[in-house]
This record gives sequence, structure tokens and C-alpha cells, in this order.
Amino acid sequence: MTEEMLQITGGIPLQGEITVQGAKNSALPLMAAALLCEGETVLKRVPQLSDVYAASRILNRLGCRCTAEGSTVSIRHSGAENCEIPDADMRAMRSSIMFLGPILGRMHRCTITMPGGCELGPRPIDMHLAAMRRMGVQIFEDGGKIRCTAEKLSGARIHLPLPSVGVTENVIMAAVGAEGETVLTNAAREPEIADLANYLNQCGADISGAGESTVVIRGGKKLTGTEYAVMPDRIAAMTYLCAAAASGGSICLSGANPRDMESCLHVLEAAGCTVGCCGSRIFLDRSGALKPVPYICTMPYPGFPTDAQALISAVLCTAKGTSVIEETIFESRYKHLAALMRMGANARVSGRTAVLQGVPRLHGASVEATDLRGGAAMAVAAFGAEGVTDITALHHIDRGYEHFAETFHSLGGAVRRCRFSASEREKQGVGA
Ligand code: UD1
Repeated sequence: MTEEMLQITGGIPLQGEITVQGAKNSALPLMAAALLCEGETVLKRVPQLSDVYAASRILNRLGCRCTAEGSTVSIRHSGAENCEIPDADMRAMRSSIMFLGPILGRMHRCTITMPGGCELGPRPIDMHLAAMRRMGVQIFEDGGKIRCTAEKLSGARIHLPLPSVGVTENVIMAAVGAEGETVLTNAAREPEIADLANYLNQCGADISGAGESTVVIRGGKKLTGTEYAVMPDRIAAMTYLCAAAASGGSICLSGANPRDMESCLHVLEAAGCTVGCCGSRIFLDRSGALKPVPYICTMPYPGFPTDAQALISAVLCTAKGTSVIEETIFESRYKHLAALMRMGANARVSGRTAVLQGVPRLHGASVEATDLRGGAAMAVAAFGAEGVTDITALHHIDRGYEHFAETFHSLGGAVRRCRFSASEREKQGVGA
């Protein structure tokens, strides 16, 4: 059996300009939200990724016609109203849970199963279900199926125990289809939430405060599909900036939103990079030595994003001194460090804390992507390392990056995507 791998020869400083892709974490809830609208929604700048294809499949099963042409995705209701997502689709993508709010908002009933695996530790859906109950939804679990029904969906006062991104988005989408006003407190403030609310308001919804801790949704408005461009992907942007930093390069990102990335840009500066912003462009140059960052703590927005934690750790492995990272959002988000250690990094993990003792350089190795951002972090490290790194299990990276190898190639990176025979590699002892 053959699989694919990325083969990266490190040590070449990345140089040049690229345009940032549309945000995966915005495109997925926007596609789900289109269920709430009559007529056609046309989403522009949708990244071409396996998670987006999975969301299209779910929409088609639910009775929409979802078609894609390049980065434009059109979604239109066909009239059929299926409210069940099969288990295989729920498992294909963690974000399948994003369909709960809009299906309930539109049809007042929904049957799902638990969303996919647990690569970052347990990812419960208790807060999603508790918020829907507050809006009048009754929930029964039956042989692995979660059946949700509501005679009518009613606006409610909902306070989140912690500011979950997905729960905030699901509440907004359900509340748009509910009668009356919903006041959501301790809401997550990630920019993707404001993007979702902007789209829904453009379709006719009445949502205020999205992007702040209190969001007010006045439900029951008739929504009509519209054309909308997905916001830029701040984590993909951070990935390319980190790779430039690790390789000692100098790059420019266009089509970015630097205001959404302040905590990330601040850490890159602290690590010794020169960072400049002008409108929607971000410049990064790293000509001197990388400096350690004494303490980085992942936090809900506007704090340092958990999704950028693996990426920055790949940079700090070669900083001159000790960096400490604390991961507060997910339990097992240091799996990538075993692969970086295979490449020569000196890292120790104790509970939520990782201590990175910088080494002069990393070396190429054969590693296996552990999860989406962990796999991208291995590529970041590889561009700064001496020699050749082979990265396998690319399905993780394909979930979140559009044209990953081609983009690095256009920055002068020595990277190719090639097929290999799994049995050959087993003989060589590949693994992270
Ligand atoms: C979203 C992002 C993901 C990012 C994460 C945190 C998308 C598609 N994904 O994921 O890339 O890493 O935000 O910024 O936007 N929790 C519960 N019960 C629940 C729901 C969540 O305990 O019902 C916990 C989670 O286990 C986690 C914390 O809440 O510890 C935050 O997770 P959440 O913000 O919900 O992440 P996602 O929306 O899944």
C-alpha cells in the first residue's frame, strides 16, 4: 500500500510573498449557518480542505445543494429537510457538532452522534447540549444517538462556564431560529465568531455584541442567503510566519488581518523577529539569533491561541535559552514534541507545562503528524533543520491547509509531496 509524505530539506531561508487562505474555523460554521437561510448563500475565499469537503457532504445529506467551484461555495436549500447526521459524517470531522445549532434553529429537531476522535484529549459536548436545553430542547441518548427535539425553540439567558468557541457559535445559530431574545454571557470572543454574526446579520439576523463577552440575539427573523467572503486564516498565517522565523527567512503575507493576530505577532517579536504590518500585509524578517520566550500561556482570544502553541514551540526549540509554555485549553496538546525531540529538540513536559531548552539546530528525521497543528509544527521545524525531514500521516495537515507544499515551494522551500510504500517505511522504523 502506498501513502503520501512531505519531504522537506531544511536550511533554506524562506523568502517571498504569499496570500493567506480563508479561515477553516470560520468557513465551517458559515457553511453550517447557511442552513438557516432561504435562497442561495455564496461563500467566497473558502479554503479547499478535507474538513470543508466533509461539511459539504453533511449539507448535501441534510437536503441542501452544496457545490464548489475553486474557492467559491454555493449552498441552496432543495426543500428536503433531513435532520439526522449519520455517524460516519459526525466522526469524519470534529466540527460536525457545528451543525447542531443551525439544524435545531431551522427544524427544531436533530439527531447526531458524538463528533470524531480525541486527538487533543477529551472534547466533550456537554456545554453544547446544556445550552440547547436552556432554549427548550429535550435531549435523549439512545444507543449512541443523541436525539434532540423542541416543540418550539425559545430565547434564553445562557451563561457559559467557560468561553467555548463552538458553543458560542452553536448558541448564536440556534438563537437566530428561536422565538424571542437570547442573551449569552461569558461568550468566546474569537474573531471567527464576529465573522459568523456579520454573515448572519447580512442575511437578516439581529445579533449584537459578537466578538465581545455578551452577545444578544433577537430571533425569529427571516433570513435570506447572501454573498460573503470568509475572513483570513490567522492560524495558517501564523504557520507561515513561524516557518519563516525557524528558517531565518524574510516573508510577506498579504490578505491577512494583523489586528486578529496581535498576541501571535507579539510573541514572534519577543522571539527575536522583526515584524511589521501595513493594512492587510504582515512582514517578518529573522536575521539574528532566535531568543527564548520565558513564558507563553495559551488562553481564549485575545490571548495566545492554543492552535498556535505547537507552531511557536517548533520555533523556540532553537532559541538560545529556555522557553516555558503552559497549555490551558486542551489536555493533550504536546504530542508533537516527541517528533521534535526526534529532530534533536530538548523538551520536557510536565502536566500542562512544556519546557523547551534551546539547541543550536535541529536535524532532519522521519516523523508522523500527530494532529493538524502538530503536523504543521513538524514542517515548521523541518524548514529550520539541517537535512531531510519526512512527514507522514498527511491527512491531519490536509484538514486545515490549502496547497501546503505548493505555498512553501513558492517561498523557496525545498519541499515535495511524494508517495511511498508503507511496508518500506516500517522497515526503516518511522514514527514520532
Ligand atoms: C475551536 C476551534 C479549535 C480551537 C478551539 C480553541 C473551530 C472549528 N475549532 O474548537 O481550532 O483549538 O476552538 O480555541 O473553530 N469544552 C467542554 N465542553 C463542551 C465544549 C467544550 O468542556 O461542550 C471544553 C473543551 O474541551 C476545551 C474548551 O472547552 O477544553 C474550549 O474548547 P472550544 O472553545 O469549545 O473549542 P472548539 O470550539 O471545539
